[in-house]
Amino acid sequence: MNFTYYGHACFAIETGGKKFLFDPFISPNELAKDIDVNAIEADYILVSHGHGDHVADLVSIAKRTGAMVIAAYEIVEWVQKQGVTNAHPMNFGPYNFDFGKLHFLPAWHSSVMPDGAYGGNPGGFLMHGGEKKFYYSGDTCLMMDMQLIPRYAKLDFAILPVGGNFTMDADDAVIAADFIQCDKIIGIHFDTFGYIKIDHDKTKEKFKAAGKELILPKIGETIEL
Ligand code: NI
Ligand code: MN
Repeated sequence: MNFTYYGHACFAIETGGKKFLFDPFISPNELAKDIDVNAIEADYILVSHGHGDHVADLVSIAKRTGAMVIAAYEIVEWVQKQGVTNAHPMNFGPYNFDFGKLHFLPAWHSSVMPDGAYGGNPGGFLMHGGEKKFYYSGDTCLMMDMQLIPRYAKLDFAILPVGGNFTMDADDAVIAADFIQCDKIIGIHFDTFGYIKIDHDKTKEKFKAAGKELILPKIGETIEL
């Protein structure tokens, strides 16, 4: 099972022979200029919410790959208006896909599309299918709802924002890791903008002090999990 980082909150997970791409935002990201957005493959594209830093390349990649877009109902309507035909609308709750069960769960954030269209509620995903169970919180502050996650699944790893300002910072993400009872965290949503620049060593140290591992992936890097 592989995790590939495309910068900011965009990553791909390859599991069970399927490629899951999350929150495609690559071409406007100066830090990700070495990534060839036209070479990214996907079977499914999961979108946490409608902000530009999560959907910039959504329509183009969905059309090119034919991947199924899985997102809030309102985001699915938005991509369908732009000619994307393979899409599965959700609201908060579970669904059994061909790859297994997926929960779309709340996040404390906001969600509006780049053109001002309503994006529905922002969320995160809990993946039960595939080789390993993982949780991607999406953009969110620390929230009590995360304490429900261990009731649903024993996580192998989780992907959490650590950049602060718009989301959790490292201190909050350490508490989140406790809430979800997971010791292996991949940090995202850092360094892209001025407000979310972080000290990598200090951030990792905070997790280490709590007996947890934080991976801060490099853009373009693939990690075996
Ligand atoms: Ni956002
Ligand atoms: Mn964001």
